[in-house]
Amino acid sequence: DKNLLVDRFGRQITYVRLSVTDRCDLRCVYCMCEDMTFLPREQLLTLEEMARLGKAFVELGVHKIRITGGEPLVRRNILKLFRDLGQLEGLRDLTLTTNGTQLARYAQELKDAGVTRVNISLDTLDADRFHRLTRLGDISKVLAGIDAVLAAGFQRVKLNAVILKGRNHDEILDLVEFAHGRGMDITFIEEMPLGVIGDHDRAEAYYSSDEILRDLRREMELYAVEDNTGGPARYFRRTGNDCRVGFISPHSHNFCDTCNRVRVTAEGRLLLCLGQEHSMDLRRVLRAHPDDDGKVREALLASMAIKPQGHEFDLQAKPVIFRHMSATGG
Ligand code: GTP
Ligand code: 5AD
Ligand code: SF4
Repeated sequence: DKNLLVDRFGRQITYVRLSVTDRCDLRCVYCMCEDMTFLPREQLLTLEEMARLGKAFVELGVHKIRITGGEPLVRRNILKLFRDLGQLEGLRDLTLTTNGTQLARYAQELKDAGVTRVNISLDTLDADRFHRLTRLGDISKVLAGIDAVLAAGFQRVKLNAVILKGRNHDEILDLVEFAHGRGMDITFIEEMPLGVIGDHDRAEAYYSSDEILRDLRREMELYAVEDNTGGPARYFRRTGNDCRVGFISPHSHNFCDTCNRVRVTAEGRLLLCLGQEHSMDLRRVLRAHPDDDGKVREALLASMAIKPQGHEFDLQAKPVIFRHMSATGG
């Protein structure tokens, strides 16, 4: 079909990740360096421009939009964007990835705006360790945010944990028990080499999904399921439990052949792959054609010609992608 986003490898794009800011109130050691500089605000897309993009994507067959950052909830007036996107007909899933620090305040309004699912990053349950891993964070805010989200009644709430050997790999079981005890899924993520972080050696900190699964299987029975949230995770279910354990394993189980996604950075750069620099300047298109969404759709369709086959992440090599995860939105 001519009006769908299909790339050269026959992959249809149905999932868009919109980064609404590169700023964050935390400085997670795998994501940022300590003295991050952020984009000047005038370079960011406006919330209206983001809503325009969301509409254009949905008209081309996208049915899932995930709002990411940085930390999306530090952007001023962000609820307006959720409300606008929540009204789009054809959008089945409006989701948020957040560090959770502001959720106590926003949970109910997000639900009311039409957000279907929330993913919250939490790598440890220990307050001191949380402070070290995030360089700034107060875990009690995140725990209060989780409570607020659970009380607001979303379809599904999930925790994300990046596991680093020697830093938090001893908490894998506790994190699963914490999530499942509260009716949440949990996904473990292999760290990706984006940007220079100046904290640890990423190859040395590598703890594979298979090691995590092995650790968990000493304590519980887990069986693979075909459940699909439209993201990159593979899921397992626990006997006698409704909750899932997911794995996002860019290094050990490449998922690029089923890629269904693109992402837009806060300054309006359409990135066709998280691990490559192929991109298109959507801000220019939006501003050159303020009243013509047809031109925006044309640009999106044309971008399919430059979507690469996949990432080439290599933990042993020097970093080749200098963008930090916070600028990319995952
Ligand atoms: P669900 O909708 O719940 O499936 O969420 P999701 O896993 O798609 O999104 P989330 O924001 O929770 O991202 C979890 C991790 O997956 C983050 O570390 C992302 O950077 C990573 N991720 C998402 N899409 C891609 C991708 O296309 N390639 C790679 N390498 N990582 C990705
Ligand atoms: N590699 C893997 N995951 C990362 N995240 C941030 N930086 C990285 C990285 N370099 C995670 C966050 C959040 C999700 C969107 O991405 O912890 O859960
Ligand atoms: Fe902020 Fe998320 Fe990056 Fe942590 S992972 S520094 S919470 S953007």
